[in-house]
Amino acid sequence: MSRPEISAPPEVFYSDVESKKYTSSSRIQHIQASMTLRALDLLSLPPNQHVLDIGCGSGLSGEILTQEGDHVWVGMDISPSMLSVALDRAVPGDLMLADMGNGVPFRPGTFDAAISISAIQWLCNADSSTADPKQRLTRFFNTLYAAVRRGGKVACQFYPRDQIQTEQIITAAKTAGFSGGLVIDDEHNKKNKKYYLILTAGNVTTNDINLQGVKIDKSQSSANRKGKKSVESTKDYIQRKKELMRKRGKLVALDSQFTGRKRRPRF
Ligand SMILES: C[S@@+](CC[C@H](N)C(=O)[O-])C[C@H]1O[C@@H](n2cnc3c(N)ncnc32)[C@H](O)[C@@H]1O
Repeated sequence: MSRPEISAPPEVFYSDVESKKYTSSSRIQHIQASMTLRALDLLSLPPNQHVLDIGCGSGLSGEILTQEGDHVWVGMDISPSMLSVALDRAVPGDLMLADMGNGVPFRPGTFDAAISISAIQWLCNADSSTADPKQRLTRFFNTLYAAVRRGGKVACQFYPRDQIQTEQIITAAKTAGFSGGLVIDDEHNKKNKKYYLILTAGNVTTNDINLQGVKIDKSQSSANRKGKKSVESTKDYIQRKKELMRKRGKLVALDSQFTGRKRRPRF
């Protein structure tokens, strides 16, 4: 798996060109939407919550917050280019240029919940000789803990480089006061393995997972217990997006037998 966080700081890596390329890729749109849906599934939020999207990028994850639960969201990101693409796309959330490693700059208890999709692994890299990943992780989780109301929930999907990074992240969350744990989907599939850190700010109940790096396999997850499919198919995704565009008054191609079908490779 390629690791952009090794190649350059996020605000450099997500340049104007890269941000547009990222956002217009239907493969990326689909993956980010699926992971956001899964994060929401793990959070089980009631509708109309006030949600922070950390590392919101161009708004791919945020859009799902609006579509799925009518949540009111604020997105923060360090890349001006990503935020500019989000503005061009007129995403429904408010946007803020901020480095999560400097802390989550909101008043205590501002949010009911927070999500972060494919972003917090960036905190594990030092972009300068003065940046200390451990300190940045600590500041991030401490301030996030304050910004979420007590009992509020947080889901962070992330791509750890190794077990050490996973432990660094879990330890910082635990030290800040969060309860919760790690959910790993497709654990034995090297390519599709996905990590979700699911946290609750205070208010530990017996249903909470002990934050010791406990792993829950996807087969035990709430969605699967209910017999619900947690990851939508490509066809369902395309049809949902088309329906949304129709509702927004956009001209959308009619569905046909070819909608969402895999194409043959072009040579
Ligand atoms: C892979 S993109 C994901 C964007 C969005 N969540 C999505 O699902 O499409 C990762 C995002 O994290 C942001 N990011 C990385 N480090 C950050 C930091 N220190 N503070 C805020 N945002 C950061 C990047 O700028 C980028 O937009």
